[in-house]
Amino acid sequence: MEFYHYQPLLDRPVRQKLADLQRNERLKHVIFAQQFSRQRLKHLGEIADMIRGLSRTEEGGIFLSQLLRHKRAMLYFTQASTRTFLSFQAACQILGMQCAEIRDPSLSSEFKGEQPLDSMRMFSSYFDIIFMRSKEPSFAECSAYLMNDLDRNQQRSVPIVNGGSGADEHPTQALLDIYTIQRSFSFSSPRDSKSSNRFDDLRRSYPSLTKGLDNKTYCFCGDIGRGRTVRSVAQLLSLFSNVKMIFVAPRHPKFALQRELRDVLLAAGVIVEEASSLRDVANQVDLVYMTRIQHEHNTPDDAKFFADLDDSLFTLNSGTMRALREYAAILHPFPRNTEIPFEIDSDHRATYFRQARNGMWSRAALTAYLFDIDTTIASHYREVFSTFHDYNQGVLGIT
Ligand code: NCD
Repeated sequence: MEFYHYQPLLDRPVRQKLADLQRNERLKHVIFAQQFSRQRLKHLGEIADMIRGLSRTEEGGIFLSQLLRHKRAMLYFTQASTRTFLSFQAACQILGMQCAEIRDPSLSSEFKGEQPLDSMRMFSSYFDIIFMRSKEPSFAECSAYLMNDLDRNQQRSVPIVNGGSGADEHPTQALLDIYTIQRSFSFSSPRDSKSSNRFDDLRRSYPSLTKGLDNKTYCFCGDIGRGRTVRSVAQLLSLFSNVKMIFVAPRHPKFALQRELRDVLLAAGVIVEEASSLRDVANQVDLVYMTRIQHEHNTPDDAKFFADLDDSLFTLNSGTMRALREYAAILHPFPRNTEIPFEIDSDHRATYFRQARNGMWSRAALTAYLFDIDTTIASHYREVFSTFHDYNQGVLGIT
């Protein structure tokens, strides 16, 4: 079976595909960021918080590690990855699930000419879920359709989770980004500030500030045109109300905001602006989402364009940091190049390492949800765990 078999399904607009990726009211496969509604994001954020809380104690960690002991995961990552791969692996470990991996296709039967979808069917024979990353944009989606066909024929079928497909989509990165933003804009983490009344203090300087993701200005900076992370997270942020987005990117048809994404955001009611320097907009934004220039995709002409470009326009520096609001979180999906200098890492607004760790909690929450054990976690947390541990959390200020 080859990808073109699914061409008519691939050619549909995303909204028409969503029903194929669900089972009843729940998600079956995770392929597009658009599969996450506000309600689902809230639920997954709560489950991630509970997994995080449970993992703090031996008893909670042991409870979690029993939940998926009888399941096995395949991590099929044939495109470069560090954080996504490792955080999925760590997420499986938290839930007690064993995993196997293929990272180098030259060591698997693809090298002998095996059809990629045959490989997927083989993985589904041995494993209970497949997490995958591929440079081929529609591979994860086609794999989900293959699993649906198998399901219809009452053959073995497993969930497919897209860990980054081509230049297209990165739904689980968007999930962890939203989780990180939810936490940042709850203004409750003592790590973000020494003050225990942080929100009230901030309101004195910023009277219109609200908690949550509504009423915010989000800035995206860097290689906007080629970045799948921005494409995915911007679509999820458009679910919130009174949102403005400022895209700071090189003025170039390939690297600036693409019309397709702009139209989707405008249709969702977002105010969209473009700027050519981060410094110019720094004082107006609630959050900065930095990205690197993806030089590995450059043509010789692109490389020449970047060689002549003043990249300080897309770089954080001490001037930009001074202009940024006191609470403005700085996110980055990583890896970084020079757009965030190391000196900034110790600033309380530098959220990117916490964001990467949040990837592990969010992916554990998503995995738990896909195996229908999210409610088991929630009841254990509410009925057994929080009664004993909330007191200590409050006293120790652990987050
Ligand atoms: C990104 C990716 O691969 O899309 N990284 C990630 O998953 N955390 C961004 C990038 O490579 O620049």
